[in-house]
Order: sequence, then structure tokens, then C-alpha cells
Amino acid sequence: MEFSNRVKSLPPYVFVELSRKKKQAIKEGRKIIDLGIGDPDKPTPKKIINFIKEASEKSENHQYPIGRGSKIFIDAIIEWMKKRFNVTVQENEVLALIGAKDGITHLPLAFVNPGDIVLIPDPGYPGYTSGTILSGGETYFMPLLKENNFLPDLNSIPENIYKRTKIMWLNYPNNPTSAIADINFYKKAISYAKKYNFIIAQDAPYCDIYFQDPPVSILSIDGAKENVIEFFSLSKTYNMTGWRIGYAVGGSKIIDGLATVKENMDSGTVSAIQEASANTLKYCDEEVIKIRELYKKRAMQCYNGLLNLGFNVLEPKATLYIWAEVPNGLTSMEFATKVLEECDVVLTPGIGFGSSGDKYFRIALTVDEDIMQVALSRLKKIKK
Ligand SMILES: Cc1ncc(COP(=O)(O)O)c(C=O)c1O
Repeated sequence: MEFSNRVKSLPPYVFVELSRKKKQAIKEGRKIIDLGIGDPDKPTPKKIINFIKEASEKSENHQYPIGRGSKIFIDAIIEWMKKRFNVTVQENEVLALIGAKDGITHLPLAFVNPGDIVLIPDPGYPGYTSGTILSGGETYFMPLLKENNFLPDLNSIPENIYKRTKIMWLNYPNNPTSAIADINFYKKAISYAKKYNFIIAQDAPYCDIYFQDPPVSILSIDGAKENVIEFFSLSKTYNMTGWRIGYAVGGSKIIDGLATVKENMDSGTVSAIQEASANTLKYCDEEVIKIRELYKKRAMQCYNGLLNLGFNVLEPKATLYIWAEVPNGLTSMEFATKVLEECDVVLTPGIGFGSSGDKYFRIALTVDEDIMQVALSRLKKIKK
């Protein structure tokens, strides 16, 4: 049995060898500290669990979830966009998702034909590439470089590429670099989107995990909406990765396209989770502050710890990640392998996010401070 050409064209999973080594180390009984995956270690807050319990008791939540999202969830998103970003949106500009990944990977199916181009940040979240390839589109990578504050250099993209572009992916606050974008950058991106008639898909699952000023929404720019879709998620903000809930907000035509693909692919987001998420967006501001403070504390500990060990580390501005330079001229994979073998610490080699990431490694801030301290002291060996 042959896989389809679409599946065969997906990029190879670069972590195969590293995952094998990690499993082997665990089997050997070594005490591995895993700073690889960006999955919150803390449970979903009790208040939210209670919302889920209550919502799951209601029989109206036991049938197929209807349409583009339940009214209570859509209304809460509209209210949240106003409260969080001072952005006004209508019902037909909002869509419930089974996590942001659902929308990210399905969006190209709605707008990309074979031969069309999708502009993708490098390094970037792998879903941008896989969604493009599965829809028959072509990828064009935009390097995110330290000298440009990890923003793509929009002037350097050739005109013949822009002319074939259907979607430009942006992701701020950024995974893996932790960079943020300001309104002027977004304005410039929108001027290109208007000139060449493409969609800007801005992926913002980390918009509430920030350590300085709150990030703005690209939708706060006048006239942006018809070219923009912005993706949000409850996964990281509320420790809810396991519940699979996110949403998209943007121009009604773009939302229509994505909704049409999804109507043909799935039957919506679990109603009880939508109801609980509506209450979460409305009543859990305190919980967000606590979670943000936790990551800020961890980010500063890890940042200062790595600086003290002599690493070149980027100052963390947001997200649950630290992005640091690989020392001693190694590739990121060689470095990650060495760290696993010599220190029993798992981190993510930057190459996993694209070739421009190969001089870097990513640490996920998903362990408590005492465990991070042990990890940092183990890394000392590597810097000698
Ligand atoms: C940049 C980025 N986008 C999207 C996602 C997926 O989020 P969700 O859990 O809402 O599907 C992640 C998860 O790690 C991410 O880092």
C-alpha cells in the first residue's frame, strides 16, 4: 500500500533519532529532564474544571455541536476581543476551532491551489508547512534573523513571489524565538497583503503570555480585517492543551472559507468545552495573571542561568520558550544529542523549526524552578 504523493511530500520528522535516544535513556533508568515539548506542566485551573463539569451535565451539550461555534462561545469571543484588544468583531467574523492547529492546518485548503505560494516564517511552527503541502501549495520560507529582531524582511521577498502568494503566516509572540511584533510591522505587512491581495494569517496562541507590554492584535489596524485571520487558543493561556479549544477571528470571507473546509471535515468543537471556554474567557483574568507570572519567573531564571553559564541567549519577551545560540560551532542536532547523552536533558534543536533555526536551541519552560536548577547545573558540563 502506497501513501499518497501529498503524504509522501511532507517533510521528514527530524526528531526521529533524538526521540529514539530519549526513549532509550528512559529505558536505561536515567533521570531525564524534558525541556523539549511546549506542553504546560500545571493542571487546568480548578475553576475551569468546575466550568467543564457543569457544562458536561447539560443534555443540550450532548448532541453534535452546531455550526461555527455555540452562541455562548462566539459571544464570549466577541466580548474578549473588545476587552483584550479593543477590537470590534461580528458573529460572522468568528469561528470555534478544535485548537488553533485545526484552523492553521486547514486554512490553506480553503484558499490555496496547486502552484500558489504560502509565505512561512523560518524558524516556525511546523503546522504552517504541513497544511501548505497537504493542500498542494508551495512553501516560501521567510528567515527570521536576530539582526531583524526575528521579524521577516518583507522588502526582500521578490515581487514574482508576492504575486503568487495566497497566505502569509505570521506568529507573534513567536514560537520558538519569543520575539514580539509591533503595530508598525503589522501595518507594513498589511500594505503588502493589500497590494498583492493575499491573506495574513497571524497565529497568536501566546498573546497573553508576555513579560513586558501586552502584545497588540493585528486586527486593531483600521481596514486590516478583510485581509486578516488571527488564531487564538486556550491551550497555553489556561493550561488547556488537552481540551483542544481555540478560535479564529478575521474577515468574514476568510472565516467563510475556513468554516466551509471544516464543515466538511469535522463536526465541531465539543459543546461542553465551548461553554466552559466561554466562561473561562469571561471570568478567569486572575488565572491568566498567575500563569503569566509563573512563566515570567521561570523565563528569568532560565535566561539568567544560561547567561551565567556563558550561553548567548535571547532576552525572553513572551511565550513559554527560551531561544539560545548553540555553542562551539556545533549544529543544533549535534548539540541536542550531546546534551541528552552527557547531561540527561532534552531540549529542542532549532533545525526542527526550519534551517534558519539551526544555530539555536529551544528550552520549554515547563518544569518547576528546582528542576530547572538541576537542568542548568547539568548544562555546566557542556560549557566547560
Ligand atoms: C505557534 C503555535 N501555533 C499553534 C499551536 C497549536 O495550538 P493548539 O494547542 O491551540 O492547537 C502551537 C502549539 O504549540 C504553537 O506553538
